[in-house]
Amino acid sequence: HPDLYGRSFLKELDFDVAEWRGLLRLAARLKIERRTGRELRQLQGRNFALVFEKASTRTRCAFEVAAHDQGAHLTYLDPAGSQLGRKESLRDTARVLGRMYDAIAYRGFDQASVEQLSQAAGVPVWNGLSDQWHPTQSLCDMLTMTEHAHKAASEITFAYLGDARNNVANSLLVAGAMMGMDVRMVAPESLWNPTSVISAALTVAAETKARLHPTADVARGVRGADFVYTDVWVSMGEAPEHWQERVSLLSDYAVTTKVMAASGNPAVRFMHCLPALHNLDTVLGRQLFERTGRSFLEVEDEVFESPASIVFDQAENRLHTIKAVLVATLGHT
Ligand code: CP
Ligand code: NVA
Repeated sequence: HPDLYGRSFLKELDFDVAEWRGLLRLAARLKIERRTGRELRQLQGRNFALVFEKASTRTRCAFEVAAHDQGAHLTYLDPAGSQLGRKESLRDTARVLGRMYDAIAYRGFDQASVEQLSQAAGVPVWNGLSDQWHPTQSLCDMLTMTEHAHKAASEITFAYLGDARNNVANSLLVAGAMMGMDVRMVAPESLWNPTSVISAALTVAAETKARLHPTADVARGVRGADFVYTDVWVSMGEAPEHWQERVSLLSDYAVTTKVMAASGNPAVRFMHCLPALHNLDTVLGRQLFERTGRSFLEVEDEVFESPASIVFDQAENRLHTIKAVLVATLGHT
């Protein structure tokens, strides 16, 4: 597997194209080994800390199960369960954990915090989501797309609809560029990826021949897509007041059966990093229904529950791809 021993995993741009693709090959191999009962325990005796300042289901569970499968032990510190942020600074916490643990997974607010943590800890740090990037998610999504597309990664087209300024959109743009894909970021111009992210992704694209297109036009954006991807319109850490503004900016960018059909591709698939607001089965869904009158936000329930939806294959792949990151950066060979 790729030689990333001792490295942190903070954002896609820290890796070159060969390293990134190597992680995906390793994830695919680990997935097969797990399914066929041939998994080797390459992390025996390792201790990991998971420090999460925001809620999580998939990311936390994927780290926990991946560590357990590989023989490592893990401590989970939840958003309220440590001194961090109230009585102790991030830098001090990092130096303490670095004395006890072999690596730290961190989910926080600014990207600067996870970078600071990795500088102070002296051990590898894995980014479990920041406001700017969600690299374990994009690694998972690249695996899921290559598994479902039945063609070379460089032939794959995907369209991301919604808030393209968020962590998932930034990570997908750069990851798609690394894979040489055709990437459409479909959003009103005020919600396109920051220009610094677009220019970094274009530099990668010059090497891989990826095609990157921000567009405000839904029909053009989804035409010919193999995958239509969306995420929540307001992310964790953003003020709830954003909902009203985002709903008015993004209502035409919701993924509906009409949008899926506009791809013109009968085999088009739907993707979402989850959690998704596709019905009123959640507290937030019901609150938003009262405020906006909508019965779904970024994706219609009919699409979410359709055979085109591969969201749970995607969720499973969080495990295999996070495991690849752990094994590549800390595995005994
Ligand atoms: N997709 C994702 O990161 O989910 P969680 O917030 O549940 O970890
Ligand atoms: N953009 C979302 C992703 C959640 C996995 C958020 O940051 O809340």
